Amino acid sequence: MIFGSENAVPKYSVISMLDISYELTRTKKEKPDQTKLGFGRYFTDHMFIMNYTEGKGWHSPRILPFQNISLSPAAMVFHYAQEMFEGLKAYRTPAGEVQLFRPEKNIERMNNTNERMCIPKVNPDDALQAIRAIVDVDRDWVPSVEGASLYIRPFIIASDPYLGVRISNEYLFIIILSPVGAYYEQGINPVKIYVENEYVRAVKGGTGFAKVGGNYAASLIGQKKAEEMGYAQVLWLDGIHRKYIDEVGAMNVFFVIDGKVVTPSLDDGNILPGVTRASCIELLKSWGIPVSERRISIDEVVEAHKSGKLSEAFGTGTAAVISPIGELNHGEKMILNDGKIGPISQRLYDNLTGIQWGKLEDPFGWTCKV
Ligand code: COI
Repeated sequence: MIFGSENAVPKYSVISMLDISYELTRTKKEKPDQTKLGFGRYFTDHMFIMNYTEGKGWHSPRILPFQNISLSPAAMVFHYAQEMFEGLKAYRTPAGEVQLFRPEKNIERMNNTNERMCIPKVNPDDALQAIRAIVDVDRDWVPSVEGASLYIRPFIIASDPYLGVRISNEYLFIIILSPVGAYYEQGINPVKIYVENEYVRAVKGGTGFAKVGGNYAASLIGQKKAEEMGYAQVLWLDGIHRKYIDEVGAMNVFFVIDGKVVTPSLDDGNILPGVTRASCIELLKSWGIPVSERRISIDEVVEAHKSGKLSEAFGTGTAAVISPIGELNHGEKMILNDGKIGPISQRLYDNLTGIQWGKLEDPFGWTCKV
């Protein structure tokens, strides 16, 4: 039951490599109202934790009751931000089963981030085993109401107590779980986006492609500015030319111009290789809708809007899935598709969420049961 339950799809490694120890809680928490979850406010009964020590590698994998952790105030993560995180979800199918969506993609990205941040890599099989084990222990926390899921947050922090600037010799790999509803209060309704012209999120050679807290910390000021002006989020432009589109808020971004779908390419290393982004590209290709990954300037978007060729724009991410853009402000306001969700955004949302929640067939083999 704990790992590799009978219905597990054997496409993933089922060789138990981590010897996980279990300390289960005696006092289970009261579960929140599934219709009022919001995002990231509630945490389940347990957590996974594993240590890294130089010379010993990753060791002591364990599942514990959800609890505070104790760290030295000198722990390097607090001072030099050597850390990373991931985000994926577990979904309740109509048959009551629990499934994950492309966890191997998150694990691959986790190790790419680790490489950039000089954090030791985690054996992908071990990472998958840890994710499955913690979800299995807290499987009764996977919500069953429409649109709700269990958000899985693996993260690694440098725990070495040392104030010199160097690579940490000690780390903690932790996985916590949070039952979630819609990321944005507006749900799938289109959001208003401000094109940021002062601050940037990433530059070539930086950490834009990596999932690190620093990227999000640096973005907060733009988000604050946008919110003060009545916008939900920011459209980020590149840090060098200040004209090529990077991401929208904490999501990848897509535009539908003249019937063709375009999204910024990953080539410059600025863009997070989103799992939802990759899945949208694959779905669009499977439907025969032209989709290209390339540089897109804000001028091209403005021109396309002026000539009536910009029919849709939307953000993609694990948390919000698809977030349509109803208005873009780049000096002047551009209203997209009358502020309503467009047909391509809707089709992607319906199909992705259908596969994720097990309501539609999964022709790509993206899901795996826990
Ligand atoms: C995602 O949607 O994948 C995200 O990374 C959002 C998260 C930072 C809350």
